[in-house]
Amino acid sequence: MIHQHLKKFKAISATKEGITRLGLSDWEDKAHAAAAAAFSRSRRVKTVRDQAGNTFLVNGEGPGPYVVMGSHLDSVPNGGWLDGALGVAGALMAMQKVLQKHRNAPVAVAIWADEEGYRFGNGLWGSRAFAGKVAQEEPLLLRDRDGVMLAEVLAERGLQKKLRRSRETGELVPKFVYKPPFEIATYAEAHIEQGRQLIDAGKRVGLVTHVSGIRRWRLESMGETNHAGTTPMRERRDALVPIAGMVGRLPQLVRGVNNGVITCGAMGVEPGVANVIPNQAWAIVEHRAPTDRDQDETARRLKELVATTGPRAPGVGLEMMPISNVRPMPMSEEVTSRIEEICKKAGVESMRMVSMAAHDAMSVAHVAPAGLFFIPSLRGLSHRPDEDSRREDIKLAGDILTRWALAEVQRVL
Ligand code: GLV
Ligand code: MN
Ligand code: MN
Repeated sequence: MIHQHLKKFKAISATKEGITRLGLSDWEDKAHAAAAAAFSRSRRVKTVRDQAGNTFLVNGEGPGPYVVMGSHLDSVPNGGWLDGALGVAGALMAMQKVLQKHRNAPVAVAIWADEEGYRFGNGLWGSRAFAGKVAQEEPLLLRDRDGVMLAEVLAERGLQKKLRRSRETGELVPKFVYKPPFEIATYAEAHIEQGRQLIDAGKRVGLVTHVSGIRRWRLESMGETNHAGTTPMRERRDALVPIAGMVGRLPQLVRGVNNGVITCGAMGVEPGVANVIPNQAWAIVEHRAPTDRDQDETARRLKELVATTGPRAPGVGLEMMPISNVRPMPMSEEVTSRIEEICKKAGVESMRMVSMAAHDAMSVAHVAPAGLFFIPSLRGLSHRPDEDSRREDIKLAGDILTRWALAEVQRVL
């Protein structure tokens, strides 16, 4: 059953180059609708769309609290077929099985919007909104590569009202309105590991004890265009030079800091013409580490790097702006040990581990007990078209979710 759901999702937007189903796009909406179709014949299961673009499939009326499972259906460009989709497919299957036994069970599936954060560089979008983490810290004025604002995309998709301008200053006033449509009693998410810890240890299930934090910054540099042939080197205001110099030094920043990883996975240069000196350059820098202390230390080093290797040429400006700061998050011991128990009973070897990849469960953990478990990724590969897992491990993910949901529902019925 889990394979049928997965096949349906794979058929949406798959090409030879992998899955491209970006967050807050029509493709993501199509995938959400395909998930909702699993309950199209049910009169009790309602499809609820919230103001962030999340879709919930909720059994019965009322605010809950609900036993919830979920994940996301957006992908990175040319990504794999299981990242996120595994957790949604498993959740659909588990909810179907629960409802066959208990028609009135307070059970729901959450399909979180824009987990990857490709377009605006800020992931876990939908689940953070649900957890009340957006209003306080989200830059709704963030722009994508084409200069379109996040606030504009939300308004276009009918999720939020258009931004208004302040009468006094004429500036846009960011305002994100959100009310969670229901309450979560307990939450579980299945995901592929996306790394090698499980295959190296020879275990079939990873029980995530906590998820590392992620901080992202945008470095932006401003210079002046001019002719690339006729402008002498000393007269240039080349915006790319300071950014490129810093990106080359990023790996040094995590040296000696426990388990930290740092990446510049997105950068751009304007006007992007070989014979024109760039007048604008930007880069997104992302740092992940399991503790606040490690994150603080690397942030300090990055600021120092910007201050010391920043613009050298007069007239070149450099700014460093925080985009997002997702704190390291422990998962619920209660949910984790229940999943551990399910594995034991099924004779499946599991191990506890830290996740360096971000997951919606870490947002949900702000508002409800949340657990997260992994199945192995073949060769530890993910965020690429050949991402895969063994068929029997995919089935296992659905079976664990089913057992967990049945036990949780019986507790509250
Ligand atoms: C999600 O894929 C992440 O960025 O860890
Ligand atoms: Mn991903
Ligand atoms: Mn994912």
